Amino acid sequence: MKTELLFKPAAAVSSELLAVFAVDNNTSKDKDAKPDIALLTSEDGLKKAASFVLSTGEFKADANETLLLHAPEGLKAARLLIVGLGKAGKATPHDLRKAAGTAARFAKPRGIKSVTIAAPATGFDAQMAVRAIAEGSVVADFDSDTYRTDRKDRSIESVSIVVPESFDKAAAETGHREGVIVAESQNFARTLINEPGNRMTPTILGSKAAEMAKEFGLKCEVYGADKLHELKMGAFWSVSQGSDEPPALIVMTYEPEGGASGPVMGLVGKGITFDTGGISIKPSEGMEKMKYDMAGGAAMIGAMRAIAQLKPKIKVIGVVCAAENMPSGKAQKPGDIQIAMSGKSIEIINTDAEGRLVLADGLHYARQLGATHLIDAATLTGAVAIALGQINAGVFANDNDAFQHFSNALEVSGEKFWRLPVEDEYREQIRSSIADIQNTGQTRYGGAITAAMFLKEFVEDTPWLHLDIAGLAWLDADKSWIARGPSGIGVRSIVEWVRSYAD
Ligand code: BES
Ligand code: ZN
Ligand code: ZN
Repeated sequence: MKTELLFKPAAAVSSELLAVFAVDNNTSKDKDAKPDIALLTSEDGLKKAASFVLSTGEFKADANETLLLHAPEGLKAARLLIVGLGKAGKATPHDLRKAAGTAARFAKPRGIKSVTIAAPATGFDAQMAVRAIAEGSVVADFDSDTYRTDRKDRSIESVSIVVPESFDKAAAETGHREGVIVAESQNFARTLINEPGNRMTPTILGSKAAEMAKEFGLKCEVYGADKLHELKMGAFWSVSQGSDEPPALIVMTYEPEGGASGPVMGLVGKGITFDTGGISIKPSEGMEKMKYDMAGGAAMIGAMRAIAQLKPKIKVIGVVCAAENMPSGKAQKPGDIQIAMSGKSIEIINTDAEGRLVLADGLHYARQLGATHLIDAATLTGAVAIALGQINAGVFANDNDAFQHFSNALEVSGEKFWRLPVEDEYREQIRSSIADIQNTGQTRYGGAITAAMFLKEFVEDTPWLHLDIAGLAWLDADKSWIARGPSGIGVRSIVEWVRSYAD
C-alpha cells in the first residue's frame, strides 16, 4: 500500500472514496437529545454535500459509525464516507486512528482500491492527527487469510491524506513518515506471527529477521544450538532439547551514526514458534493457537525494523530466543534441574512454563552485551488474560522511571497496558526446595505475577519492563478498524519507549 499527503481541498480530489470525520456537537447527556452533527472540515463543499443526510438525524456520529453517500454533489470523489468520532471535544488521536482504520476496512470488502481521507481541520495537533490516520489505515490493510485459495486480493493500493490548510506542512510530513514506518513494522510482525508452526520454525524466524536486518541496515547474527551450549544457556536449551527443530538465538543491533555513549536499550522477545506444553502437554482443544507464542519475539523484530528507519540517537540490541516446545524422548521432564546462563539453578515443575526459561537466558545475555535498560515482550501466561481480560495487556516494572517512560510511550502509541506488581512478597511462590528457584508458582494464584518474579531474578538491578501480551496478541474477531488474527501489539509502544531515551 502506498500512502501520500495531498495539500489541496478534499472536494477537488478524484477518488473512489473520500472519507471525512464527524462529531456530535450536542454534548448533553440526555439520550433523547437530538444530535447536532458537524463534519470536521472547513470546506463548504463537503459540508454542503453532507448537509441533507446529516439533517435527517439518522447518523449519530458514534465512534466508528459509518454513512456512505454515492456520487456526492459538488465533489470530485465517487463516494463520500462519513465516519463518526463520537461527542465533540472528546475524541483522542487514538479514536482518530481507529476511525481511519474503519474507513480503510470499509473500502476493502467493496473492492475499492484507492481511498482519500480528509484529516480533521479542528481538534487535533497536526502531527499527531496525520500520524494517527497513516497508522490506522496501514494497520487496517492487513488480513490474515493468506492461505485461502479463494482469497480475493482486497488490499488497498493507495491512501491519500488530505491535509487541511491550517496544518503545518513539516509537522504533517513528520507525522506521515513516522506513522507509516511504525505501522508497516507492526504489520511485518503480524505477518510473522500469522504463519503456522510448520512454516515458522526458529530457523525460519531467524532468516526472516536476518533478511529484514539486511534490508534496513541492522547488524544481525543468528546462532544455533552450539552457541547456546557455548554460552551455557541451560534454561533456553532445556526448552528446545525435545524438538527436532534447532533453536535460534537472534541478535539484532542498531547503532546510531557517529556512535552513542548514553543508555543501551535491550529488547528481548519470547520466540516459541509452537508451544505444545512439552511433557506437561496442553489439552488439544485450542492448541493450534500456540503458533502465536512467538508474538513477543516478532514484536521485537518489528520494533527493530522501525528503529532502523527512525534512527534515534541511541544504541539498541534486540535478542529473540526462538525454540519449539515439544514432548519427545529427549524432552526435559518435570523435576529436572537446569542451570541458567547466570548460574542460577532452576527446578522444572511444569514444562509448559517455558517462556520464562528462554527469557531468563535472553535477559541475562542482553545485559552481558551491554544493555543498561531492558524490556521484554512475551505471550507468557494465560493468567494475565484472567487478570486483565482482553482489553489491557500486562506491564511489570522494577523501576518507576522506566515505567514512566513507558506510560508516556503509551500516550503516543494508543496501546493499552495495565501495570501489575513485582514485589518481594511474591518471591515465596517460586522458592524451590532443591534449587534456587522453580519455574512455576506454588499455587495458581497470581500466575502472571509469579512469572514476572521469575524473570526478575535474571535482570538483577537493571531497569526492566516486562510485557505479558498473551491476552492481546491474537484477536479472535474482526473489529471495524483491525482484522482478526495477530494484532502486532507491543511494536508501537516499544518503539516509542526506546525513542524516549534518545538525545
Ligand atoms: N504460551 C503459554 C501462555 C499463553 C496462554 C499464551 C494462552 C497465549 C494464550 C505459556 O507458555 C504457558 O503455557 N503458560 C502456562 C504457565 C503455567 C504452566 C504456570 C499457563 O499460562 O498456563
Ligand atoms: Zn507453555
Ligand atoms: Zn508459551
